[in-house]
Amino acid sequence: MSDTTHSSTVTETAAATSTEAGIADRLARLRARLDYQGLILGFLCAVVTITLLLGDRGTRDLIGQRQMEDKLALLAQVLPPALYDNNPLQDAVKISDVEFSAQAVEVYPALRNGELQGAAFQLGTVGYGGVITLMLGVDRHGVIQGVRVLSHKETPGLADKIELDKGDWILAFDGKSLSNTERPQWAVKKDGGEFDQFTGATITPRAIVNGVHKALEFYARHAAEIAAAAQASADTQGNPS
Ligand SMILES: Cc1cc2nc3c(=O)[nH]c(=O)nc-3n(C[C@H](O)[C@H](O)[C@H](O)COP(=O)(O)O)c2cc1C
Repeated sequence: MSDTTHSSTVTETAAATSTEAGIADRLARLRARLDYQGLILGFLCAVVTITLLLGDRGTRDLIGQRQMEDKLALLAQVLPPALYDNNPLQDAVKISDVEFSAQAVEVYPALRNGELQGAAFQLGTVGYGGVITLMLGVDRHGVIQGVRVLSHKETPGLADKIELDKGDWILAFDGKSLSNTERPQWAVKKDGGEFDQFTGATITPRAIVNGVHKALEFYARHAAEIAAAAQASADTQGNPS
């Protein structure tokens, strides 16, 4: 190897060593900065998590309270408040009846002086667009005090007159019971019953009439059980009832 070649090899080796040292130095500095940034990120995540947890805890009671008030206002539409002096939501009882519903039904009993005066509960029935969810209130004899649609997917403008703010069709159930309305009358007029259908929309009202009729049968099957369970629940909670 000539002197010139040897010297250039030494120079290249020195340059390479110095470049590697530079890279290693830069990597070490970068790593230290990354550790530092990781700590900041971790700290920020912890602050956000704690803030969310505190916020959730602070609003949970308030949301629960508002939901309870909304549901009580809804109950007042299907059960005259004069019927009860208890909180039907707090005294709710679950009744299983697969003939009526695959899931246990939450029944809100109306108690006055500890005596069952009526009850309200939700029911689902399949209409044209899907499940229609309703709330039904009955007195202790099974006479309907009110029915309201809670949610539905029926066609707007054609079948949404089932909502009280779009029409009074739903009020046709008030005062009806299994005793004052014979089985064949629980149908739309087109099917020989006594409930109006809508022009060009029979499926929706037919589904609701059937659903409400099944709900009355459910109540009739379980009135005694609801009274006993509600009484027990009210006693446990020390209600005035
Ligand atoms: C686009 C469209 C939407 C409809 N939406 C509804 C509806 O929400 N509810 C309903 O009862 N019928 C609805 N209908 C009409 C039904 O298909 C059916 O014709 C009508 O309910 C009459 O039923 P019937 O033959 O049992 O008397 C709709 C029809 C169309 C074409």
